Order: sequence, then C-alpha cells, then structure tokens
Amino acid sequence: MADTITREKETRAIVDFVGDSLRHRKAENNQQPAKIMDVGCGNGYTLEALSSQYPNEIFIGIEKTFELRELAISRFKDAKNISIRDGDIRNSDFSEGVVADILICQRVIINLLNENDQKKALKNIVHTVRKPDTWNSGGTFLFLESFSSSLRKLNEAREEFDLPEINPAHHNLYLQDDFFDIPELKNFMTDASIAPPNFLSTHYFVTRVLHPIFTKNKPVKRNSEFVNFFTYALNENSGDYAPLKLYLFERTGKA
Ligand SMILES: C[S@@+](CC[C@H](N)C(=O)[O-])C[C@H]1O[C@@H](n2cnc3c(N)ncnc32)[C@H](O)[C@@H]1O
Repeated sequence: MADTITREKETRAIVDFVGDSLRHRKAENNQQPAKIMDVGCGNGYTLEALSSQYPNEIFIGIEKTFELRELAISRFKDAKNISIRDGDIRNSDFSEGVVADILICQRVIINLLNENDQKKALKNIVHTVRKPDTWNSGGTFLFLESFSSSLRKLNEAREEFDLPEINPAHHNLYLQDDFFDIPELKNFMTDASIAPPNFLSTHYFVTRVLHPIFTKNKPVKRNSEFVNFFTYALNENSGDYAPLKLYLFERTGKA
C-alpha cells in the first residue's frame, strides 16, 4: 500500500473495531479468548497490528496466494496464538471448521472478478462467523471494500476540472451499494468512535481532485505535504468520494 495515510486510517479503524467487539464480548461475560480471523490476510500486516494490540486473543489468517501466505507464516513463526492457513473464500469450507468471533475482510472481495463469486464468497464468509445464541450476540464483521457509486462521484468531481476518469485496477471488480443487504447481517451498533463508512472521502478528494488541480502535468506524488496538510485540515469524513468504504456488521440468527 503506497498511500501511508490510507493504510494508517484503515489500521486505526480495524484496531478500534476489534477493541469494541472485544468490549461487547466481555460485557456479555464471555471470558474466552476471541477467535479473530483475517480473510485474504496478505503478508500479515494487519494481523501484526492487531496481535500486538490484543495479545491474549487467537488470530487466524486465511490467504490463497502462496508467496503472501509464506511471508505471513514467517512473520508469525514464533507466535503461538497466530496461525496462517491456505484458503479460498470461494470455497464453503475455506476455514476448515474454524468458527470466528470477529472477522476482518480488507480489500479481498473486490479481488474476485465475477459477481457470482463475490456473492458466494460473502455467504461463505458470513457462515464462518458465530451465530447468536441464548447467552451471546452474534460475531462481528469489518469489511473494507470498494464501491462503484463512490467512484462515479469522485469522477464527477474530477470532470469539473477536466481531469481524466479513474477506473478500477484491472484486478478489481467494485461492488454495488446493496451488496451487503443480506438477512444474515445487521449493522453492528457501537457507541465507540469508530470511523464512519466514508472515512477516506476527504483524503480521496484531496489526493484525486485537489492535488491534481494544482499539479496537473506532473506525475502523481504519493504522501505529499499538500495531501498531509489538507487531509487533516479539512473535516476528515466529508462527502462520498472514496470508493473504499468501511462497513461493520453483526451476525444475525438467520440462515
Ligand atoms: C488487496 S490484497 C489485501 C491484503 C490485506 N487484506 C491487506 O489489506 O493488506 C487482497 C488479498 O486477498 C487475497 N485473495 C484474493 N482472492 C482470494 C480468495 N479467493 N481467497 C482468499 N484470499 C484471496 C490476495 O491474495 C491478497 O492477499
């Protein structure tokens, strides 16, 4: 991830969400370590941030790509509470029977280039997380995925300044707004100050609209001082200009 502000904001949101999910768990008197699963964990970057913040929980990374999986395995070779497994979220048994209490899915569903595969993967992911029972609420989910409607909005803003359209990378298929509207998911109600869905909107407007207006014919400079200044000088969560959005859910008892 070349953009350090995006990575930092993502990681902060994920760490806050897991902290809040753990608090909810403790409030229900559940003292067992939570099973926290990161699907499509890549080289294990996010798992490292989480496991250093919450060392008493159990972490499972699922990764399909051999090279990335090997990097994650070697990163955690001395950690007893972190395991990295081979798995493809298109398969219904990708977790091999492990039921997660908290699940992270960060820019993975958009990697599937077929809408049916994306829907099937969502069902598989959802069924990997604990359902509610008499004593406990259902497990929780954090999804960070990209949406076509926000990309359209960003491109409308760019068009006002004759900036060319941005398209998704060839290895990504962005989602429709109703993608997560399924009965097995309901919004995770939290009173903690976790970032809202559009938490990257201002940053995207600054990097993809404001900055190019001033530097029109120059190559894109990542992490510039201009961007650092305006991302934080402005209201951080303004508008709907970042395709990458954050959604938090809880598993319902349905299906
Ligand atoms: C954009 S990367 C994100 C990695 C990590 N979640 C992060 O944000 O740093 C997408 C990851 O999903 C993995 N992936 C893609 N398709 C997958 C699948 N069908 N099952 C499991 N992992 C998959 C890729 O190998 C890659 O590591």
